Amino acid sequence: MKFFVDTANLDSIKEARDLGILDGVTTNPSLMMKEGITGTENIESHYKKISEIVSGDVSAEVISTDFDGIVEEGKRLAAIAPNIVVKVPMIREGIKAISWFSENGIKTNCTLVFSAGQAILAAKAGATYLSPFIGRVDDISWDGISLIREIAEVYSIQGYDTEILAASIRSPKHIVEAAKNGADVVTCPLSAMLGLLKHPLTDIGLEKFLADYRKGNA
Ligand code: E4P
Repeated sequence: MKFFVDTANLDSIKEARDLGILDGVTTNPSLMMKEGITGTENIESHYKKISEIVSGDVSAEVISTDFDGIVEEGKRLAAIAPNIVVKVPMIREGIKAISWFSENGIKTNCTLVFSAGQAILAAKAGATYLSPFIGRVDDISWDGISLIREIAEVYSIQGYDTEILAASIRSPKHIVEAAKNGADVVTCPLSAMLGLLKHPLTDIGLEKFLADYRKGNA
């Protein structure tokens, strides 16, 4: 399973990259806004900076919602760097645009996915990645992880190539459950990634090993 970090914060991206396990980055307009990045020029130059920090795929989201606008914006974003993936919302015009990008060799990430039916449409259109938002499904008392499992089953039966990118991850447990249920990629905040490190027995065990070493090597 690949690990993407879900942020537009350059320090977090560098920290995740320095762990040596980072495969890519996802962003969205809210994450860009959180970093205070506004205006087309600044947004595009920020994507350029991100794409230079990591060698893996970097999802850059379009704002347009009509076919022509999505295609124009996507072409501009894809031209920023070879590792830019155009992130397109799961809407009718988005599906048309994903088909166009797929036919024209531009990678895509179909975002805001909440059902297996939407996942089938995105795969048929040739999306490179599919982003089901598991945390937001949990937020309304449904089960985000079941959605990952259902999509993974459908994709396996149908032999679709689209990679399932479990998004809206809120905890280390989400990461493990996404892995168990067939996600090809998880995208999460750095805090959730670092949360995987934690186990009290690791801390207790390390403390004991170091104390014993000190006793024997004082
Ligand atoms: C996915 O690519 C989105 O950027 C993200 O995972 C959304 O997460 P949120 O529901 O925590 O905003």
